[in-house]
Amino acid sequence: MPNTLQEQLVKHLTDVHSIEEQAIVQMRRARRIAGDPKLAHIFELHLGETEVQEGRVRNRLQVLGAEPSRVKDAAGKAGGIGMIWFAKLNPDTPGKLAAHAYSYEHMELAAYQLLEHLAKRADDEETASMAAEIAAEEAAMAERLEDNFDLVVEASLRDLDPDDIGNQLDKYIADAHALENQSVALLQGGQRIAGDPPLKRLFEDHLAETRGHKRRLEERLEARGAAPSRLRDAALYASGLGAGGFFAAQPDTPGKLAGFAFAFEHIEAAGYELLRRVAERAGDSETAEAAKSILLEERSMAKRVRERFDEALAVAIADNVG
Ligand SMILES: [Fe+2]
Ligand SMILES: [Fe+2]
Ligand SMILES: [Fe+2]
Repeated sequence: MPNTLQEQLVKHLTDVHSIEEQAIVQMRRARRIAGDPKLAHIFELHLGETEVQEGRVRNRLQVLGAEPSRVKDAAGKAGGIGMIWFAKLNPDTPGKLAAHAYSYEHMELAAYQLLEHLAKRADDEETASMAAEIAAEEAAMAERLEDNFDLVVEASLRDLDPDDIGNQLDKYIADAHALENQSVALLQGGQRIAGDPPLKRLFEDHLAETRGHKRRLEERLEARGAAPSRLRDAALYASGLGAGGFFAAQPDTPGKLAGFAFAFEHIEAAGYELLRRVAERAGDSETAEAAKSILLEERSMAKRVRERFDEALAVAIADNVG
């Protein structure tokens, strides 16, 4: 465990560096499977930005005197900020790719916000302003993805038989359900390490909402007459995001937990953005309505978690510095 603020800062920079290395790999792959030239271009642009970000973070590490071997080692370790398995998920459709990328950008955004707070506490203005600048780039990338969810749905359904839309919709509902299951595990585990009591309460409240989301999705599937095996297939996909992996990765800090929860709410949000659009195309207004109202709760949870970043980090620092 790093003790001084300075050591924590170096550790966090190392984590962020490994996030960028993962991001470069993902952006390269994303260009190829985006499913649409405009989407591919969005990933291409961010690949360039990500390469610059990686260099800037590496440079800060060197200025702070971290050994290059340490930088390299840490990057190779799964763990990293404790959210790195997000990168292990292999999205195979434009929809999953976009949802995954959208969430990843929010994870980066959280990591840089935490870095900025930490750097300020350590009186390292230069690292703090670098973090703020990169955070703005991650936010802008997330926004570009958000602006293109229509196109993502278009690209996802383009090559499929139009008569198959009902079947596709069932799949989107089942995927959303699988994410909700992972969310239950995350929120339950999160309550144990939240540290910050308001954050813990947030997790408790959202756990109740999450159970409600699950029920609503089950009702929609049932009303549509979808086979229960749908849920089993989807569970396999979501286990790649396993909340279990997060808690197994390393004894984690409230700051990272808040960042991970924030990213997780955004993969859910993306899922509902897509689900609503697919449901509308399939003429299933009830499912579209359900997606819309669940989406509001996911977005509100994300916002409330973000408001706890500072405090969660303060708890983490108090626990570590002694
Ligand atoms: Fe980045
Ligand atoms: Fe990014
Ligand atoms: Fe949620």
